[in-house]
Amino acid sequence: MQHPPDTIPIDLAAALALARSPRPPGPDTPAGAAVRAWPGTPVPLPQAGPADLDLHALLRLSLAASDTSGRLRPAPSAGALHPVDTELTVGTGCSLPPGRYGYDPLRHRVHHLGRQPAGTPPGATAALTVTAQRTASHYGHRARPLLLLDTGHAAAALVLAARALGTGEPRLRMDGRTESPLTSVHVPPPAGRAPGPAPDGSRATGRREQPPTAAELLARRSAPPPLRGAPAPDALRTVLTAAADAGTADLRWSVAVGPPRPGLAARAADGAALRHYATGDARPTLAAWAAGQAWIADAGAVLLAHGCPSDADAPRIRRAHLRAGFAVHLAHLTALRLGLAARPVGSWQQADLGAALGAAPGRDWIVHALALGTHSADEENTT
Ligand SMILES: Cc1cc2nc3c(=O)[nH]c(=O)nc-3n(C[C@H](O)[C@H](O)[C@H](O)COP(=O)(O)O)c2cc1C
Repeated sequence: MQHPPDTIPIDLAAALALARSPRPPGPDTPAGAAVRAWPGTPVPLPQAGPADLDLHALLRLSLAASDTSGRLRPAPSAGALHPVDTELTVGTGCSLPPGRYGYDPLRHRVHHLGRQPAGTPPGATAALTVTAQRTASHYGHRARPLLLLDTGHAAAALVLAARALGTGEPRLRMDGRTESPLTSVHVPPPAGRAPGPAPDGSRATGRREQPPTAAELLARRSAPPPLRGAPAPDALRTVLTAAADAGTADLRWSVAVGPPRPGLAARAADGAALRHYATGDARPTLAAWAAGQAWIADAGAVLLAHGCPSDADAPRIRRAHLRAGFAVHLAHLTALRLGLAARPVGSWQQADLGAALGAAPGRDWIVHALALGTHSADEENTT
């Protein structure tokens, strides 16, 4: 990870403590180039043979920008700054010849970087890293957790794109052990080909829902605030379940709801219902903790990922944030399928949920969130 000077401590635990502090970021600084300076000439992604993994389609449905400014991507990003860089290691059975490639999401082209290592399995592995300067240019010392969350969202976008294309089941490496890459997603060629060995240490990506369609992935947007209207309890339970199933044991999941029964709810032990575990409207406090974003106080509901105590070490911090981004992305798609409006919320200061509920401080911080409503500003303006 490349750090701009003097903005973010290198030590991740110190950087997270600073990001969680009330200190406001300074004025914006230059974001730098929107794409990593890959060496060599960019080449288009060739058309795929019938049995090949179609890398053009995979990247188009997950990471490619649909206009040259870099906005409008299938994956969301804090401040639309898109700090995630992707290097592909391509094996046999793909629409590109085997090798290593850097991906340019603005031009939707690849740069050949060299030969693939010995033992590269069939299919392609996307290794995700970040250029911190992009996010730090706006968020300053608040950037570090956002970079991890963004990477989790990008990994989820790749997994969903693979499912939409009917490839072999993608495998995710998101153990938090390495800073570079932060995570990798291995996508085997379409089912029917013999799957190759999974990259060491990887694991499958959890329960398989009805696969998304390409149109759903390309249509995903963060609904513009305000997001009003309380979703039905069943819809909230479905979104909560999608997140919790894609999360990790490091994280807990709750949903903050307003009247008529304001409070915090979690999944009941049998998963069949919501269990209200705290009363009182948390949404105004959440709005204050989320960099003072007042619209959150009126959101129909707010899905919360929490945990990641103050004494978490770097691998645990990375894992919790990567997984939170990954899970909130899946929850976002689930919410859209239910006809809800949804928007990720990633910047949290002093958001010690456990302490606010009377437990020991420093044990249960908000890591990420998804604001939900039955309708958004878009719909308010058109009705
Ligand atoms: C990690 C993360 C954190 C985000 N935090 C916020 C936030 O605090 N407030 C907000 O209004 N939007 C937030 N967003 C949404 C982005 O602003 C949005 O993704 C971006 O503007 C691109 O728009 P799109 O998602 O419609 O493609 C966040 C998105 C991500 C991925």
